[in-house]
Amino acid sequence: MNSHRVRERGTRTTARTGIARGTGRAHSKAILLGEHTVVHGTPAIAFPVPALSVSAIAWRGRPVTIPQPTDSPAGLRFTAGNPLTADTEMSGPRVAVDEALRRWGLAEEVVEIVLDCGDIPPARGLGSSAACAGAAVRAVAELYGRSIDAETLYELVQCGEQVAHGRASGVDASAVLACGPIWFQQGAARPTRVGLDAVLVLADTGMPGATQHAVAAVRRTLDRNPVDAGRILDRATELVESAADDLEAGRVQPLGATLLDFQDLLTELGVSTPEIDTLVSAAVGAGAHGAKLTGAGLGGCVLALTDIGGAAAEVSAALRRAGAVQTWIVPVTSGQHPFPSRTRPERGTRQ
Ligand code: PMV
Repeated sequence: MNSHRVRERGTRTTARTGIARGTGRAHSKAILLGEHTVVHGTPAIAFPVPALSVSAIAWRGRPVTIPQPTDSPAGLRFTAGNPLTADTEMSGPRVAVDEALRRWGLAEEVVEIVLDCGDIPPARGLGSSAACAGAAVRAVAELYGRSIDAETLYELVQCGEQVAHGRASGVDASAVLACGPIWFQQGAARPTRVGLDAVLVLADTGMPGATQHAVAAVRRTLDRNPVDAGRILDRATELVESAADDLEAGRVQPLGATLLDFQDLLTELGVSTPEIDTLVSAAVGAGAHGAKLTGAGLGGCVLALTDIGGAAAEVSAALRRAGAVQTWIVPVTSGQHPFPSRTRPERGTRQ
């Protein structure tokens, strides 16, 4: 359509149709270690994965014909806002947008949102629900010409994540909005230093995980035996602290060993599966320094730490031979100045 566009307070308006639209993006994430125990107050380290991103377009009201952002099959479309007209189905992105509209005094508005989830497979521990919520809220903010600070955006995404996870630590909401690796603990994110040139190979088991179910199962396991719970949570803190030190000092082998130790904890918590175990063994057999599940487990993805160059390609090929339906290469680069897009006073123990 050859329409004339004018810009009004951050909102793009198509003059010919009168349809205003806003756009937004967010990216995927990978938890290096600390998943699950982070829900119970221990730290976690997570990396943004900018190569896997989500884009959103938001329209005011219900236009008769909504152009799709792409012809990608990995799309999602929902309506938020006025409960009398909006979809009844609850989802993380919709809850986040509803909350944004409510805070902005726009609860009577009806907004239609189309998400293009690109290459992020849903329910694989790569943060698709948080990324979709982040992109959707950004699109709606642009639609209404609202500037949105990093803390508010985090809070809105986190509202959606509480629905998606049952009880969400906030690590996903922080990592999908962050510009670099983060140390996350008890709602606070801060940059974590990287002195390492390496690669994270992500591999999809092809099995969807179920975050809410996995989080509830871990809670039951911890509640059943408080003594074991204390030991597991203390060990988790120790491992995440040691990983942060190795990451900063560039010690790839000890970092790999720590990932394997964390995988043992996750196995004890009951969230590994035979498919995950097979991929972890395949990665280590092909020369990875360490490997573990990433995200909630019970399906989803495995993450392997390798040297740069041919090693990553070999590990990736071995993972595919062992059953991974897809792999991704995520570079870890020293000297970058990672920073989260939101910063809060540090409450964690590390400086
Ligand atoms: O939803 P996932 O698979 O990306 O994993 C979320 C990480 C958990 O620690 C399992 C839950 C949370 O809220 O921290």
